[in-house]
Amino acid sequence: MPLTPLKRLFSIVPLTAIALLAAALPTQTALAGGHTGGAAPDRLFDPAKRSELRGTVLVTGANRGIGLALAKNYAERGWTVIATARSPGNADELNALAATNDNVTVERMDLLDHASIDALAAKLRDVPIDVLLNNAAIMGDAAVQDFGKYDYEEMAKVFAVNVAGTLKMTEAFVDHVAASDQKKIVGITSVQGSIASLRDPLIPFYKMSKTALNMGMSSVAKIVKRKKITIALISPGAVDTRMMNAALEHANYQGKSFMITTAESAEAVINVIDQYERKHSGMFLAHTGEVLPW
Ligand SMILES: NC(=O)c1ccc[n+]([C@@H]2O[C@H](COP(=O)([O-])OP(=O)(O)OC[C@H]3O[C@@H](n4cnc5c(N)ncnc54)[C@H](OP(=O)(O)O)[C@@H]3O)[C@@H](O)[C@H]2O)c1
Repeated sequence: MPLTPLKRLFSIVPLTAIALLAAALPTQTALAGGHTGGAAPDRLFDPAKRSELRGTVLVTGANRGIGLALAKNYAERGWTVIATARSPGNADELNALAATNDNVTVERMDLLDHASIDALAAKLRDVPIDVLLNNAAIMGDAAVQDFGKYDYEEMAKVFAVNVAGTLKMTEAFVDHVAASDQKKIVGITSVQGSIASLRDPLIPFYKMSKTALNMGMSSVAKIVKRKKITIALISPGAVDTRMMNAALEHANYQGKSFMITTAESAEAVINVIDQYERKHSGMFLAHTGEVLPW
């Protein structure tokens, strides 16, 4: 009997690698891995549906990877884009985008430097921000996340960036968002943070950080409800970036064909963000518009 594409994939890829991929891939693979027993995916939004919405977005970690693609996509849609980078002087592609788009500005912000977050919030104090897009994160050094070799300083750093840094951004900019029309705060999270989707023991610091981020932002969702702010938790897919390639290298997996491009991810993520309404606040979705298990 011919193998289905999924079974063929499972038959040729080492177990640890496929487990990593199953957790990294958006829902279809993760869910087909047994989580729902083959039930139809719970698709809430259409990832291909573009809206006519315009506004101001602040994207963190916009100098490369998914963040850069998000900044480019929003600029192309006519949004005002505030794009942050740790080192704007080295953000060549982002600076080139800003040079050709009057509606794109580049600002310095480092999630490990809370004073830089406060300084940016003060500088932008009169700027309503429709979408605060918390994209920046680190995976950390995968080699020191193997059991028996845990490096607790590295664990703290991953948490400092992905959890504390993102929550600090959210606290610092909550009033900017509350003053806007769309009032959305997005946490770019990961299927890797889904305990229910766990398939492999790799990169636990990163996984735990995304689980913690999900809880942190879910708690914030309860608090900012009275400000009419919507919290969106979105996994961007398995995307061909430096972070994803480092994870695959650690898993000893060579293939790339399952990944989507940063442009494809950004298009879907923005379309999903646009479809979040207040009643969806706190929901954990894939870039495919499907609801993810916690
Ligand atoms: N790629 C995937 O398949 C995948 C899957 C699921 C979730 N995600 C999530 O998607 C988001 C983007 O990931 P990516 O794949 O695009 O990663 P990436 O290519 O490694 O880019 C990460 C971005 O975060 C920035 N950053 C790192 N440390 C920072 C800090 N201390 N302060 C401020 N910015 C910092 C980086 O800036 P520098 O250039 O200065 O380091 C870079 O702009 C992350 O939240 C990631 O967890 C990615």
